[in-house]
Amino acid sequence: MARFSNSLLLVFFVTLLTTTLFTVIDAANKPKPKPSKKVNIVLVHGALADGSSWSRVIPRLHAAGHHVVAVQQPLTSIEDDVAKVKVALRTIKSGPIVLVGHSFGGVVITQAAHNNPNVSALVYVAAFAPDQGESVAELGKNYTALPSNQAFVPDSDGHLLLPQNLFLRYFAPDVDKKEAEIMAVVQGSFDSVRFGFVSGPPAWKKHPSYYIVAEDDQIIQPELQAFFTKRIQAKKTVKVHASHALLVSRPKEVADLILDAAKAVAK
Ligand SMILES: *[C@@H]1O[C@H](CO)[C@@H](O)[C@H](O)[C@H]1NC(C)=O
Ligand SMILES: *[C@@H]1O[C@H](CO)[C@@H](O)[C@H](O)[C@H]1NC(C)=O
Repeated sequence: MARFSNSLLLVFFVTLLTTTLFTVIDAANKPKPKPSKKVNIVLVHGALADGSSWSRVIPRLHAAGHHVVAVQQPLTSIEDDVAKVKVALRTIKSGPIVLVGHSFGGVVITQAAHNNPNVSALVYVAAFAPDQGESVAELGKNYTALPSNQAFVPDSDGHLLLPQNLFLRYFAPDVDKKEAEIMAVVQGSFDSVRFGFVSGPPAWKKHPSYYIVAEDDQIIQPELQAFFTKRIQAKKTVKVHASHALLVSRPKEVADLILDAAKAVAK
């Protein structure tokens, strides 16, 4: 009986060895993919969202060989969000960093990357890009107010969210309904104080910046987004007919812009 198991074990190991060998030979014969210049891409979601809002963008960045991190924001204050992003930036020990912000994440990356030489480029995705001394509350005033601004309701903590039906209408009207319903259910409530947060010196003054405008946005005025593209002197501006949830409804265009930024800094 013992002898039988031993030979069985032998057969097993020989098979394992052969399989491994063939796998190694197979790998050696395959044409090697071009060595990609790996860039660190740090994704920062906005209010009413979470890290998974980048789910459609992340595989496209991975396919290009990049290292991707999506920061999970506390949404308790801009300061807390900035601190969390700074931790993510410090955790990366080598290679250029492209820092990407959606929506209120734009305010966050604008603060977090200031004076950080490790950040090579910024990408704004339908995001606020305030200048020093400006708040989000003030920035929208030149443009027609959007009905969504009156739609936020406080939870029992005083944090704000959108009623689920209005989330679908204003935040994600061009997202598949089932998926939009899930986004509405998991939306992250946020502190109301951030509307009045006064920006410090902006990172976009020193870092090359990119912008994708959501032309059908009902959360941040598209005209304000267009104003930002000019003021940050975006190296590249892309405009898409999409809602505020463009990272879900138009992930290819969003990922392509991030990949352009990554290509430029990988040189
Ligand atoms: C930049 O990266 C270096 C090397 O990892 C690190 O020592 C330094 O603290 C980083 N600077 C900032 C501002 O994060
Ligand atoms: C708002 O209008 C004023 C006056 O024309 C201008 O100086 C300022 O840059 C504008 N701000 C935005 C965010 O459009």
